[in-house]
Amino acid sequence: MADEEPADDVELEARLAEQEVFEPPESFVEQANVTDEGIYEEFEGNWPECWESAADLLSWYEDYDQVLDDSNPPFYEWFTDGKLNASYNCVDRHLDERADEVALEWIGEPVDEANRSITYEELHREVNEAAAALRDLGVGEDDVVTMYMPMIPQLPIAMLACARIGAPHSVVFAGFSAEALATRMNAADSEYLLTCDGYYRRGDPLDHLDKTNEGLADVEHDVETVVVDRLGSDGFGHELTDDQHDYDDLLAAHEGATVEPVERDAEDMLFLMYTSGTTGEPKGVKHTTAGYLGWTAWTTKYALDVKPDDTYFCSADIGWITGHSYIVYGPLALGTTSMMYEGTPDYPTRERLWQIIEEYEATQLYTAPTAIRSFMKWGAEYPANHDLSSLRLLATVGEPINPRAWKWYYKHIGGEECPVVDTWWQTETGGHMVTTLPGINDMKPGSAGPPLPGLDVQIVDTHGEEVEAGRAGYLTVQKPWPGMLRTLYNNDQRFIDEYWAEYSETDSDDSDDWVYFPEDGAKIDDDGYITVLGRVDDVINVSGHRLGTMEIESAIVGVEGVAEAAVVGGEHDLKGEAVYAYVILEEGHEGSDEMRARIVEGVEDAIGPIARPEEVVFTPELPKTRSGKIMRRLLEGIANEEELGDTSTLQNPDVVEDIRGKTGDD
Ligand code: WT7
Repeated sequence: MADEEPADDVELEARLAEQEVFEPPESFVEQANVTDEGIYEEFEGNWPECWESAADLLSWYEDYDQVLDDSNPPFYEWFTDGKLNASYNCVDRHLDERADEVALEWIGEPVDEANRSITYEELHREVNEAAAALRDLGVGEDDVVTMYMPMIPQLPIAMLACARIGAPHSVVFAGFSAEALATRMNAADSEYLLTCDGYYRRGDPLDHLDKTNEGLADVEHDVETVVVDRLGSDGFGHELTDDQHDYDDLLAAHEGATVEPVERDAEDMLFLMYTSGTTGEPKGVKHTTAGYLGWTAWTTKYALDVKPDDTYFCSADIGWITGHSYIVYGPLALGTTSMMYEGTPDYPTRERLWQIIEEYEATQLYTAPTAIRSFMKWGAEYPANHDLSSLRLLATVGEPINPRAWKWYYKHIGGEECPVVDTWWQTETGGHMVTTLPGINDMKPGSAGPPLPGLDVQIVDTHGEEVEAGRAGYLTVQKPWPGMLRTLYNNDQRFIDEYWAEYSETDSDDSDDWVYFPEDGAKIDDDGYITVLGRVDDVINVSGHRLGTMEIESAIVGVEGVAEAAVVGGEHDLKGEAVYAYVILEEGHEGSDEMRARIVEGVEDAIGPIARPEEVVFTPELPKTRSGKIMRRLLEGIANEEELGDTSTLQNPDVVEDIRGKTGDD
């Protein structure tokens, strides 16, 4: 990348390269939602009651008894016996004062033809009609409803409709494969599905119902499906079957209907979200109503500084947790305007995002390092053509951001007047965990910052002892927090094994003996700022999305002619990490381009295009220890062109040079 650096980047480099600490801009601090640094001490001294401040952002039908019930760790309960409804909190309660304000600002495709400003009043109407329609279809409280939709308004509307009737949703990213859809529907025993006929990508219609139907063929039980007609006359002429219903027809049949929001217990499930883990089977992360909603509202308010009059823009997809927490639930709970962009940042031009920000006068931008690296590569002239002065705050999530990209973002998008918040968190944590509070803390590019107030985050060694400042260790969370996952759906044991077993005394019922381990490496500096180093498990992070190497390997082994496969992450300029696949073929099969194409296709079919291998290397053997374990670390070293050290203890040391010679040469 260095050789194509634009000239003003060189100048930026000279001026900002040395600077390691940035103070929050004065103009920002003056208006920030939180500026009192006493909040850290106050929360620490008043834990867990400090989290009443999250509960206080919500409206309750019935007050809770206890802030935290930690009598049965790690099955923590927050705001026990309180009653509330998430749909009421995100929609109804804003009607008195904000009925005519825009709730969702949808920027759809085709460009300039499909935009929709949905006011809170309109949102209320459509959520109610959808809730009535779903109920009529048979959806009852606690039935899991799957959604397989791109960035169209019907997705958040359906999520809120489900929340209204107490039916947990399980959203499957639209870019995932048919097989991924079926696996998740089977795992959740989900008998209802909302999908669409298709959608536009870079101006061209894409068939989504075909993929949906293929997935449904592998679902083991009957499913009632609701299909949004997204493409109209551009559609693919699908005929709906008897158990497939047209979304618009259903809504028309319930025109003007209202559905009383169901009183949900604080600990009732709000949704499930499947995420990749170390084993092949995705994990159904369970989030509950009060803790999750309170956490997203609190962090949206304090870390993203969102106010009701803002026009807040998070460029994530609602199919991932970032979109759930920071396009739908957090912003709408606060009654603000949340933007929803269906397209890609470079269609029709590389100015698209900046055009949108200028046109809608967006006040925050929340995006990912992978996107920032692309913007940087394209050049600063694209944002420079637009007035971005409406922006007040910039945020990033998904993977570590390197200081250079941070500074570029700060300068070229924020005009050196917006704080940049680097938010570390996960699907499992529900919302932000480690980030600066923008009106309080100085920023250090590359470091996410201190843990939020009220969180006990420690960097420890393999024995669970805190490591010295500057040393690499493992990130742990030593106390529970309201937004945490409650379990893995139908699998309490796996919940304990995956997140707690490493550092907890698992036979203890004292919550002090339980430590949450997110499987990230990190280091902490003398000021308590945490730099996240990346995953320490067999999960790779491609463009801010988590992919299990085992899932990809099993997809590759499923291709005819493949005997064995090992997948590792290799550094990639834009994606952060890319998939490198090392493949052994069966006798009689050849490592041809055709074979390579079939492997790529196999991965796309099993998971989706995001998991597509960057490189497929055919090898007669994989490096193995004497006990027969594949040495992934060595393969990683090869993918990253690192020095490998001593390989003589391997079962088959010669294979290393052979594989190295073949990597990176096609
Ligand atoms: C993993 C979680 C959180 C929503 C998007 C991804 C990595 C996330 C950061 C950050 C360094 C980060 C971690 C984490 N990660 N944000 N600001 N700095 N690493 O959610 O799919 O659950 O992935 O993403 O490795 O464990 P996810």
